[in-house]
This record gives sequence, structure tokens and C-alpha cells, in this order.
Amino acid sequence: MNPDSAVALVTGGATRVGRAITLALGARNASVAIHYRSSDREAQEVADLVRESGGHAECFRADLSDPDQIDSLVPAVIAKFGQLNVLINSASIYDQGGLEATSRADWELNMMVHAWAPFRLSQMMIATLEDAPGKVININDIKLVRPNRLAYGVSKASLAAVTRSLAAAVGPNIQVNQVALGAILPPPTLAEDRVAAIAKLIPAQRWGDPDDVATAIIHLIESDYISAETINIDGGSSGTSG
Ligand SMILES: NC(=O)c1ccc[n+]([C@@H]2O[C@H](COP(=O)([O-])OP(=O)(O)OC[C@H]3O[C@@H](n4cnc5c(N)ncnc54)[C@H](OP(=O)(O)O)[C@@H]3O)[C@@H](O)[C@H]2O)c1
Repeated sequence: MNPDSAVALVTGGATRVGRAITLALGARNASVAIHYRSSDREAQEVADLVRESGGHAECFRADLSDPDQIDSLVPAVIAKFGQLNVLINSASIYDQGGLEATSRADWELNMMVHAWAPFRLSQMMIATLEDAPGKVININDIKLVRPNRLAYGVSKASLAAVTRSLAAAVGPNIQVNQVALGAILPPPTLAEDRVAAIAKLIPAQRWGDPDDVATAIIHLIESDYISAETINIDGGSSGTSG
């Protein structure tokens, strides 16, 4: 698919990694539906940047922990743009929670945002596509096992399963892939010495850049023969461990 024919929904598309994906799509003349939950101002700002560069962008608010709001998102995008053929599932939560601290509420929240929302949005978009081309790209994490972020890890492992199961279930004109990120953008609360220490553990000896993620996503949109695949964007971390 040529990105200029994409009408793309980017969840969490107003900030950080999602923002870079939104801007890269806009730069390739895609129409971009920028989803946000609380980052209203950032969503409007990035939409303005896309429009200034000649692209189309609209903002859509939804809390992806609420099944009704998940269900309202694809119809809202189609009402504005007339169609939707690319879905980038980037919205995420990154809460702490170990063995004893993980509650059912944490579990359900993470599963809702990281597994159900990406699946349900895909299901709803695919139902509108019939035989037309479409792409689903899920943003995952190279580390699916995290003892201090248990619900996060379990739900991101579910997202990996969603990716492959969906890829197997769709018709030939739809490709479903994921990109798995290593250290791309540190959480704002991470201390500088920890940021530097993590960089030393990466074969590339540095953190990545959100634009590295955006480049891989444009490649997956352009390719019609890659599906059920994972691209690790991690400076070589996963390929060189064990
Ligand atoms: N940053 C990294 O180095 C890294 C590493 C590994 C994997 N990843 C993955 O890459 C993706 C992007 O990472 P990031 O660091 O840019 O993400 P992030 O800053 O943690 O979160 C991205 C967006 O998710 C949205 N979000 C959170 N809870 C939501 C909810 N209940 N409903 C709707 N939206 C919700 C937030 O939107 P609002 O601000 O509008 O509320 C936020 O802007 C994520 O899937 C993450 O797991 C990132």
C-alpha cells in the first residue's frame, strides 16, 4: 500500500512514540486519525503540524479501558474520513506491579488496553474493508517477561498472540504485524544515570529514536507480503542475547 492512500488511526498518537508515527504518516501524505485519551493539547498540536505539511489530520478522544469507548472509535473515524485502512495500536500503560501487588483491576486494565482494544479496533476496521487492502501494526515490547510489571508483560504477550492469530484469520489483502521496541524513549521519571546505564547494555550503545519506529511502520505499510511478523527495534538487544 502506498502510504498516501492510507487512512490511518494511531492510538496514543499525540505523544512520544505515537507522535513520531503520526508525523511520519503525515509526511507521506496519509490521512491520520490521532487518538488520545488525556493529551488533548498535544493531539491538537500534532494535528496542526500534519496540516501545515499539507496532510489531513483529525483528533479522536477515547479511553481504551472502556469497552464502549473502544467500540465508538472506528465509527467516529469513518464518519470523518469515509474509510479506515491502517490501524497502529500504540497506546499503552506502563504501571509497576509485582507478584503480590498485582490486582484483578490491574490485570483487567492492562488486558483491556494492550490486548482487547487492539483486537477489537482491528476487528471493527477489518469488517469495513471487505476485499480492500488493510494493515494492522501493533506496537509491542521486546521484554514480555517483567517481574515488576507483571500485568504489563502478560498483556503485551497477549498482544503478540493477537498479532499472529489475527494475521491467520484475515483475508489475503490484509497484513498484520508488530514492531517490538527496546529502549527507545525513557519514561520521564527515569533518572539520568539509569538512562545512561541502560544505553551501555545495548549493542548500539545508545537509546533508539521514535523515528526509527516510524520508519519501520512506513515499511510495513508499503509491504504487501510481510505478515504475522515481528520487527525488533532495539539496537540489537534481543538478537544478541542468549
Ligand atoms: N518508550 C519506549 O522506549 C518503549 C519501549 C518498549 C515498548 N514501547 C511501546 O511503544 C508504544 C509507545 O510507547 P510510549 O512510551 O510512547 O507510550 P506511553 O507514553 O507510555 O503511552 C502512549 C499513550 O498511551 C495513551 N494511553 C494510556 N492509557 C490509555 C487509555 N486507557 N486509553 C487510551 N489511551 C491511553 C496515552 O494517551 P494520553 O496521553 O492521551 O492519555 C499516551 O499518550 C507502547 O505500546 C509501548 O508499550 C515503548
